Amino acid sequence: MQEPRKRDVAPSAEFARGWYLICWSAELGRGEVKPLRYFSKDFVIFRGEDGRATLLGAHCPHLGAHLGYGGRVEGNEIICPFHAWRFGASGRCTKVPYASRIPPRAAVDAFHVQEHSGMVLAYFGPEGSAPEYEVPIIEEVDDPAWTPLQRAQIEIATQPREVIENIADLAHFLPVHNTLIDDFEVVIDGPRATQRTVGRGHNLKNEPIPVVSVATYHGPAIQFTRLEWAYDMVLINAHIPVEQDRLLLRFGVMLKTGKGVTLPPQVLEAHVAAARDGYFEDVAIWENKRWRDEPMLADGDGPIGEVRKWYSSFFESHADAH
Ligand code: FES
Ligand SMILES: [Fe+2]
Repeated sequence: MQEPRKRDVAPSAEFARGWYLICWSAELGRGEVKPLRYFSKDFVIFRGEDGRATLLGAHCPHLGAHLGYGGRVEGNEIICPFHAWRFGASGRCTKVPYASRIPPRAAVDAFHVQEHSGMVLAYFGPEGSAPEYEVPIIEEVDDPAWTPLQRAQIEIATQPREVIENIADLAHFLPVHNTLIDDFEVVIDGPRATQRTVGRGHNLKNEPIPVVSVATYHGPAIQFTRLEWAYDMVLINAHIPVEQDRLLLRFGVMLKTGKGVTLPPQVLEAHVAAARDGYFEDVAIWENKRWRDEPMLADGDGPIGEVRKWYSSFFESHADAH
C-alpha cells in the first residue's frame, strides 16, 4: 500500500497536532462521499469499495471543484464532479479522462487515517510528520456484554483548550455536575493524560450513588472514560476544531448490561442521555466564559497549570520536541 503523500497537511500552528475523530464509522457507508470542514479547512472523506476510508484535501488541483459535493467513488478512488479527474488514497491524480498525460504534480493533500472501535481517526500534524502515538482499541465495542455504541454530537462555540482544561478542574465538579469528589488525581504520561476520580453523584432517581471514573486523553482530542455509575459505562469524548472559535464535540456511550441482556430501550436511552447531559453541563459554561491566560487560582483548584503545559506540548514543532 502506498503511503499517503504529504504536502501542506499541517492544520496551522494554532491547532494541536495529533489524532482526531473525523467521523463515526457508521456514518460512512461503502462508496459514500462526504464533505468535512475542520481546522478552518475543507476536506473530503470517502469509503472505497474495499471498505477503506480515505481523507483528502477537498479542492481539485485542476479548476478547484470541491470533491465532497458531487464527487463519486469508483473502485477505491474518487472522481471529481467537474471534469472527472480521479484521485486515489495517496492523493495523487490517477487519471485525466480526456488527456494523454497526467500533470506530474496533480494531487490533493492526503492524511493518515485509521479506523477502529467505531471511529474513523485521522492524524493532523506538521508537514511530513508521522503519528507519534496510537489511539488504543476500545475492546468493549465488540463485546456482547455491552450495548452498542450510542452517539451524539454538538457544535460548541469554544476552543479546544477549554475542553481539555476540564480534566484538571477539581473545583467545578460540585457546582456544575453536582458530584462530590473524595479522591482526585491527574497523571500525565507522554501524549496521555489520565484523570482519576472517586466521588459521590446521583442516579436517575436522584439517589446518591458512588461514581468512580478513569478518563484518559489519548493525545489532544480523544478521551475514553471508564465509569462506574448506575452501570459500568464507557464514554468517548472527542472534539475537533471547525474554526478557531468553534468545535465539534462527539460523544459516544456504552453500558455494560451483561451477555444476552437487553435493556428496555427507554432505560438505555435515559442512561445515555444522563451521561451525555452530564458532559454537556460544561458546555453552557464554555460558550459564555472568557479564557484566562493567567488565572487567579486558589488551593484546591487541581493541576490546571500542569494540564495546560501538557496540552501546549502538542503545539511544539518536531524540531523542538525531544
Ligand atoms: S476541477 Fe476537478 S476535474 Fe476539473
Ligand atoms: Fe466537567
